[in-house]
Amino acid sequence: MNQRDFVRTIGGASLGLLFGEERWARYAALPPRRLAQDEPFWATIRRQYRLTPDYINLESGYYTMQAEPVLDAFIRRVREVNLSASRYMRTRQFDDKLAVRRRLAAMAGVPPEELIITRNTTESLDTVIAGFDWHAGDEAVMAAQDYGAMLDQFRLQARRYGMVNRVVSLPLDPRSDEEIVQLYESAITPRTRLLMVCHMVNITGQILPVAKICDLAHGHGVPVMVDGAHAFAHLEFAIPDLRCDYYASSLHKWLGCPLGAGLLWVRRDRIAALWPIFADLGMADDDIRKLNHTGTHPVHTDLAINDAIDFHQRIGIARKEARLRHLQRSWTDQVRGRPGITLNTPSDPARSCAIANVGVAGLTPAELARTLLERYRIWTVAIDSAGVRGVRITPNVFTSTAELDSLVGALRALAG
Ligand SMILES: Cc1ncc(COP(=O)(O)O)c(C=O)c1O
Repeated sequence: MNQRDFVRTIGGASLGLLFGEERWARYAALPPRRLAQDEPFWATIRRQYRLTPDYINLESGYYTMQAEPVLDAFIRRVREVNLSASRYMRTRQFDDKLAVRRRLAAMAGVPPEELIITRNTTESLDTVIAGFDWHAGDEAVMAAQDYGAMLDQFRLQARRYGMVNRVVSLPLDPRSDEEIVQLYESAITPRTRLLMVCHMVNITGQILPVAKICDLAHGHGVPVMVDGAHAFAHLEFAIPDLRCDYYASSLHKWLGCPLGAGLLWVRRDRIAALWPIFADLGMADDDIRKLNHTGTHPVHTDLAINDAIDFHQRIGIARKEARLRHLQRSWTDQVRGRPGITLNTPSDPARSCAIANVGVAGLTPAELARTLLERYRIWTVAIDSAGVRGVRITPNVFTSTAELDSLVGALRALAG
């Protein structure tokens, strides 16, 4: 039995407990896209979460609550670490963390020696950006739609070292992958030393053709750093599929970990050239752990990654991705093209998944978010940057289509 089959069997067995073996066998036989439409199945998954009755939560893009089994396991771990206190920290934490790191690396499809557990995507990507040996005139390529914290970190390097940032602006509905690839190519020069690209743009939900961008950049000798804050445990892929050089994600988003868990993967031959932010001269230059010396840390958060992976793999990434895409389309298909409503998300279903962004004529993004909450009890977030004006709508596996129908009703009423 290979690793994948083994995981599938474990997951199957656990969902068998949840659904009853017979019912589960029927579900397990369904292709993910069919199961994505099976409301009773997803209602059972929904019951694994404790949801507030006060509002409909359509803002999973920032932080996704933990499922109850994950939260319970996390709280048990907090108590265990608290009980043994420094004895735990001096003895068991290293082996326990190593086991989690190995499991996370297996899930990502990379060797554990190339991956560290961080607090979040910001820490991971900023470690890479600030770890470069920048010289005046060096260049980096990125997009206006990238995340603000990383754009700021590049701006900081520009101020400090005189390197230069070249910023492209992504089309929302590209005619083809090549249009995006060419856009990035147009910004590459002989001085380019790093290209940053989002796997999924946070303000629009747009999925970018990362592997093709990596091939292009490598053709020019440029390494690629991927911001996977929203893609890991959301889309079905392994990091090597992307052919990138650096990959980062936040595990409190789509993996459903406690707050403050992330990952950084660096291709083995790229590790030695990075300067750590926190010095640890006990680590060899080509040991990725040199980038991970952040001091005493809430280790129970890292340990709970294990519990979140258990829950995630019980559902299975193919089923989860199919459901998330179905949820998004279930509401966007009802409002696309309606007067007064603008969708700021690609219309091609392959170019987005759970996340979409919508604007209503006559309302600023802030007014729309406020009205949705105050009048319709729907929690979203206003986005007003890089030419994107609307509210971001992010359902999750606990979201029902009935909740999204409420959103559709609200949008139609507001658009008049
Ligand atoms: C695309 C993208 N990158 C990076 C981040 C930063 O994530 P974190 O705050 O978990 O570090 C976010 C947060 O939403 C994001 O959307």
